[in-house]
Amino acid sequence: MSLPYVLLSAAVSLDGYVDDAAPERLLLSSPADFDRVDEVRASVDAILIGAGTIRADNPRLLVNSAERRAARVASGKPEYPLKVTVTGSGDLDPRANFWHTGGDRLVYTTDQGAERASRLLGSTAEVVPLGAELHWRELLEHLHDERGVQRLMVEGGGRVHTQLLQQGLADELQLVLAPLFVGDPGAPRLFGPGTYQDGRLRLVDSRRIEDVVLMRYEPTAPGTGPLPTAADRHWLRIACELAALCPPSETAFSVGAVVVATDGTELARGHSREGDDLVVHAEEVALAKIDPADPRLAGATVYSSLEPCTRRASRPMPCAEVILRAGVRRVVTAWREPDTFVAAADGTGVLRNAGAEVVVLPEFAPLAKAPNEHLPG
Ligand SMILES: NC(=O)c1ccc[n+]([C@@H]2O[C@H](COP(=O)([O-])OP(=O)(O)OC[C@H]3O[C@@H](n4cnc5c(N)ncnc54)[C@H](OP(=O)(O)O)[C@@H]3O)[C@@H](O)[C@H]2O)c1
Repeated sequence: MSLPYVLLSAAVSLDGYVDDAAPERLLLSSPADFDRVDEVRASVDAILIGAGTIRADNPRLLVNSAERRAARVASGKPEYPLKVTVTGSGDLDPRANFWHTGGDRLVYTTDQGAERASRLLGSTAEVVPLGAELHWRELLEHLHDERGVQRLMVEGGGRVHTQLLQQGLADELQLVLAPLFVGDPGAPRLFGPGTYQDGRLRLVDSRRIEDVVLMRYEPTAPGTGPLPTAADRHWLRIACELAALCPPSETAFSVGAVVVATDGTELARGHSREGDDLVVHAEEVALAKIDPADPRLAGATVYSSLEPCTRRASRPMPCAEVILRAGVRRVVTAWREPDTFVAAADGTGVLRNAGAEVVVLPEFAPLAKAPNEHLPG
């Protein structure tokens, strides 16, 4: 299942509100930051907002710069990104600006909401029912598979942002802090109550833009079950990139691995043939850097560009066993081991039989294979 890269974008007051309770939209950003937002819009395939934001703000969601629109067209993209909204009720005002400006319009809703939305909107938008309830993962998969959306910008409101972050589906949060207070407990907040990732998000960047500050954060906490989160994809990409550091070998794979605790703390990383050990494997060398008594190992996830080995000539203990003995019970990998050196290896099967969760993300297989292209088969 491939999903688009999901970028959440929002502006908040110093006391954490995204709007005040007045009917007009509260402008939180500065002019230069609105231009930055315009640039981000020009870079994505689709922009999504919740039906609540259409009702409250009546936004157009345009790319305002003619140069940016021309650059999109020159690169073979539509002039404007696709505009997407979500609604359960289907109660959408057909006179709203959303339906009469910019790019194509798409409404995701429930079976029940679809009836009402189609009746109200007619041919101004495509209405896609997703069953009795709307599930975000399904919506994102549909956007990716059916509409070719690789990058999605989400511009609120709070209820939409909250769900995407809590469900581990947001790859990035671009947050602008505006130097003003709202001070009204009845005003909407950016994030609602509920369960968020343990620990801290990673601050990737911060920048002053006139009198506001832009902060870019990435969620870091691994998923907890069979469904991959955005953070899982982030860590697996790092593991695949580590594989490129391996000294080349004609007789072994080049593999990278990262071990991450439940709160998103990186415990260790490694790659094949790291240091002076010419036969060490990535998962083995990474786990050897962690104190075996570290209580975080039990909840940790191992990211490995290639599935952990089950048989090896160089050492008595294969990596699947090293992982199980370390107490780790979740592994995310990009590539099932081919028969190049060992026939029918099946590290995934061995780990699963021992009760571990193994998540395979084949969309990362090309990246995992890249440093191994010289190998036969
Ligand atoms: N400062 C900023 O950056 C910024 C950006 C955007 C918005 N805002 C502010 O945010 C406020 C609006 O936020 P909001 O939280 O009230 O609304 P919202 O998140 O824009 O939209 C919520 C609506 O989306 C639909 N929806 C969301 N999740 C759904 C699900 N899982 N299944 C079905 N439908 C779902 C529902 O529509 P139905 O009600 O139709 O069922 C729900 O009422 C406004 O005050 C706006 O000014 C601020």
